[in-house]
Amino acid sequence: MASLFRKKIVTAQPAGQQLARTLSWPHLVAMGVGGIVGTGILTLIGVGAGLAGPAVILSFVIAGGICACAALAYAEMATMIPASGSAYTYSYVVLGEIIAWVIGWSLILEYSLVVSTVAVGWSGYAAPLLGAVGFPEALVKSPELGGILNVPAIAIIAVVAGLLSFGTRESATLNAVLVAVKMIALAVFVFIALHYFDAANLHPFMPYGFPKAVAPDGAERGVMAAAAIIFFAFYGFDAISTAAEETKNPARDLAIGIVGSMVACIAIYILVAVAAVGALSYTRFASSAEPLALILREIGRPGFATFLGASAVIALPTVLLAFLFGQSRIFFTMARDGLLPASLATVSKRGAPVRITWITAAIVAVIAGLLPLAEIAALANAGTLAAFVAVCACMLVMRRRAPDAVRSFRTPAATLVGTIGILGCLYLFVSLPSKTQVYFAAWNVLGLLIYFAYARPRAHAE
Ligand code: ALA
Repeated sequence: MASLFRKKIVTAQPAGQQLARTLSWPHLVAMGVGGIVGTGILTLIGVGAGLAGPAVILSFVIAGGICACAALAYAEMATMIPASGSAYTYSYVVLGEIIAWVIGWSLILEYSLVVSTVAVGWSGYAAPLLGAVGFPEALVKSPELGGILNVPAIAIIAVVAGLLSFGTRESATLNAVLVAVKMIALAVFVFIALHYFDAANLHPFMPYGFPKAVAPDGAERGVMAAAAIIFFAFYGFDAISTAAEETKNPARDLAIGIVGSMVACIAIYILVAVAAVGALSYTRFASSAEPLALILREIGRPGFATFLGASAVIALPTVLLAFLFGQSRIFFTMARDGLLPASLATVSKRGAPVRITWITAAIVAVIAGLLPLAEIAALANAGTLAAFVAVCACMLVMRRRAPDAVRSFRTPAATLVGTIGILGCLYLFVSLPSKTQVYFAAWNVLGLLIYFAYARPRAHAE
């Protein structure tokens, strides 16, 4: 029986299982920003403020800092191993099969649940517009919130899956235009809200303390509890690395794409967070389904609120595009390695894995139609944190195992950055709701059962 820690060797793929190389770095920066800026900053900023108070600004700084460390490790690994599959593939090459399986299984959780979360967030911003044309309210809410089914969330997933089936480059170009819309909307928010900045809104700054702690009402709050949720807002750059096999010049393009999009997003988020909690007391927007639009309305700028809402509706699908794209590539790569059924690994004449895109879309649409937002987001974060720990570990291991290997992107202060990345992600993980940690463990038990029963006997690592 092969070792649980056997390694994958990256080789050219047989014809029929090769993706078309159509992307270059501007597409990747746009895909990165397109994947990062979404429901996290537009909706979960409210949830985060409810957990941390005005100190949600600190939560943004902490989550962003940890994510930046992971992004640097990602850039190094993505350029060393420019193969489809991201953290799953790096783990297979560096750490061995069983770890790769756990990480691949975590990525499936991450990518699926991000698509579901963002579709629900999109529906939150679309609901007022749909309500205005008489769309029944029960059909824009999940059962837990008193509705029947979240129909817009399901519909938007179907639209994005259709786009991806047309082939990669067309979708990436449209993505770039939508990213511009999203960034302009956030810039307008910052500009307007900062005019209403009132330092009184920042007091008390840290009403629920720093570490995750159980508040009198039974909820788990604190700056770290908020950081563990806000973390959702920062990732998405990793979707770029899943595009490695479709990139014309992977070494240069991936590094520019990952680092560039991460830096741009950290800067704009901190500005948005300061502007938001400074303009209005956090208690007034914490439970809103569209907090940034609500803030603009409350400070007396309803026209800009409508503009922001409409921009979100137009541009949030870029996040869906990036993650549905990434999800189908993770499935595709695991299937190609024999860990999932090979029939999933076929690509269409245009080089897009159409079958797995639609299977994924169907599953995430069901979740989006039925479940509430914050819980799905927390579980997505758990999967992502596991992947980030693995990528930082891969980077550190490769620095020791192959110190002289060619690296077209080198993480600065690699030992420090890698260690902060690992410890920071673990701290965020324990700061997630306790319920989420249990769900994540259950997901992995299921995964390991499938690994031993199905995947392990069929895997072909070379
Ligand atoms: N970072 C992405 C978002 O905020 C997942 O929606």
